Amino acid sequence: MSELPQPSPGSRASGLISRSHLGIDPFELRLPETLADAAAAVANGSWAHAGGIDVAQRLRAGEVADELVPLCAPRRSAGAGLERLTEISLGERSLFIGAGVSHARIESDPLVQAHRPDVASAWRTIGNVRIRAAGTLGGNLAAFHPGYDAAPILAAAGAELVVAEPDGTEVRCAVADVPRDRLIVGCEIPLSGRVVYDRSLKPVVSVAVGEQAVAIGCAYAATHVIPHGAANPESVTAAVAALGDPIENAFASAAYRRRMISVLVDRCLRMHAEPPAPAGDDRMGVPATRPGSTREVATPDARSLEAAPPARSQDVQSPDAVSRDGTGSMAHVEMHLNGEPLAVAAPPSEMLVDTIRTRAGLGSTRVGCDQAVCGACTVLVDGTPTASCSTFAWQADGSEVLTIEAANRPASAGGRGDVESILPVVQGAFAERSAFQCGYCTPGLILVAAALLARHPEPDRAAICDWLDSNVCRCTGYLMVIEAVEAAAAAVRNSGDADLEDTP
Ligand SMILES: Cc1cc2nc3c(=O)[nH]c(=O)nc-3n(C[C@H](O)[C@H](O)[C@H](O)COP(=O)(O)OP(=O)(O)OC[C@H]3O[C@@H](n4cnc5c(N)ncnc54)[C@H](O)[C@@H]3O)c2cc1C
Ligand code: FES
Ligand code: FES
Repeated sequence: MSELPQPSPGSRASGLISRSHLGIDPFELRLPETLADAAAAVANGSWAHAGGIDVAQRLRAGEVADELVPLCAPRRSAGAGLERLTEISLGERSLFIGAGVSHARIESDPLVQAHRPDVASAWRTIGNVRIRAAGTLGGNLAAFHPGYDAAPILAAAGAELVVAEPDGTEVRCAVADVPRDRLIVGCEIPLSGRVVYDRSLKPVVSVAVGEQAVAIGCAYAATHVIPHGAANPESVTAAVAALGDPIENAFASAAYRRRMISVLVDRCLRMHAEPPAPAGDDRMGVPATRPGSTREVATPDARSLEAAPPARSQDVQSPDAVSRDGTGSMAHVEMHLNGEPLAVAAPPSEMLVDTIRTRAGLGSTRVGCDQAVCGACTVLVDGTPTASCSTFAWQADGSEVLTIEAANRPASAGGRGDVESILPVVQGAFAERSAFQCGYCTPGLILVAAALLARHPEPDRAAICDWLDSNVCRCTGYLMVIEAVEAAAAAVRNSGDADLEDTP
């Protein structure tokens, strides 16, 4: 166990400012042994925890959970049906996607790309690099957020949800009918059909059009599904004209929303009538740009988080990895932090950023928004950019965690993986190009850039912007940052070429 002192409320270990978990009411962790176990717990009022992004926000906002049931916990014992949660498989008439599958995997999975490229393409619009890595299909649906994208896309695709009863038996329901007190196991998407999705006016309205249904997001308290689709455009137009009043809020009036629903539905119906764009054309299913990001990404791979093999196995048999120590309130967490082993007994509510800052005393992981939005707290967990402000420490159990301090670890320390050896190069390029002013955002930017270069050594500018677009910098402006990443990419490539030339 760590020799570092247990943080005490109110103290500021190492003079650091983070302690974002202290406002969260204590809760227990319950690792499910089987799918039925998880289903029963959720039916009894425990909170499922998938990516945990919304769970963390809700707890921080003052909601109270007695017990969290981690569905995607590290080192979870895979078996007894739980593996279904992270499965993507092909049936005779449908594609099954497990509820615990991440957004990043859905957009890049070969089966999804082969059989429902429209769904993969629509999924690519979700969130940012950290959200796509952590957020899941089930968590997105079960958040019941009218602005989230999974429900309209799946409803228009004619997908059915697979839901587990408390005894583990599976039942099917429409996307709009998902019960709030049941475990979502996954969804079945018909193999035929095409969805055209337009979210260019979010958060005012989003519209998805498929053969059998039209789904409207953002405009009502829940995703509104019109049970007519592109096969019957006149009925759709009539149903849109008969819609009730949309919500009215700071983003738009009800009248404006109503008008924009018609505009987007018409546009999507027209696009649906056109032949599908060739594979790789990003217009397929995604007619407009995601606000604040570039759609002209070089290739799906250049954007994908899944292009590199995942470093973490979900199959390690260690059901005690997130266990209680007998007091009923601590989780044993073992990770490698910048190559050094770190073992702590932490309250389940402790955020990874707090472990890093207050226990390990590494202060360069910043806290900005504390809501998984700004990127200041980014660390790499098994090479994947992760919002440490919204990730519990136990989620990193068994993982390799890198912070910016790893850039200065001597090469002789050994065990430097690809990303770690790229870090100092990116850091150097930022210094040479003056790609920072106050430096608050800089560790997060450098870590995301290093993760990008580890996966895609030759990213074009669009791919760089896509990866960095959610790392907020309030003083530098982004041009020098982008140029620094381009310079780092060239330096990494050149060093690789030099290594090859040195090889006898
Ligand atoms: C900055 C930011 C930007 C985002 N942008 C977008 C966007 O553009 N589009 C979009 O669609 N979403 C967006 N999201 C949401 C994101 O995509 C996640 O899907 C969402 O945060 C929840 O996913 P999760 O896996 O983390 O769920 P969790 O936080 O783990 O769970 C969310 C809720 O679902 C419940 N739950 C989880 N899994 C299950 C299950 N299998 N069965 C039953 N209940 C379950 C949990 O108990 C909880 O109530 C954004 C989020 C952030 C913070
Ligand atoms: S502090 Fe974590 S994303 Fe802003
Ligand atoms: S350099 Fe100051 S916030 Fe980015």
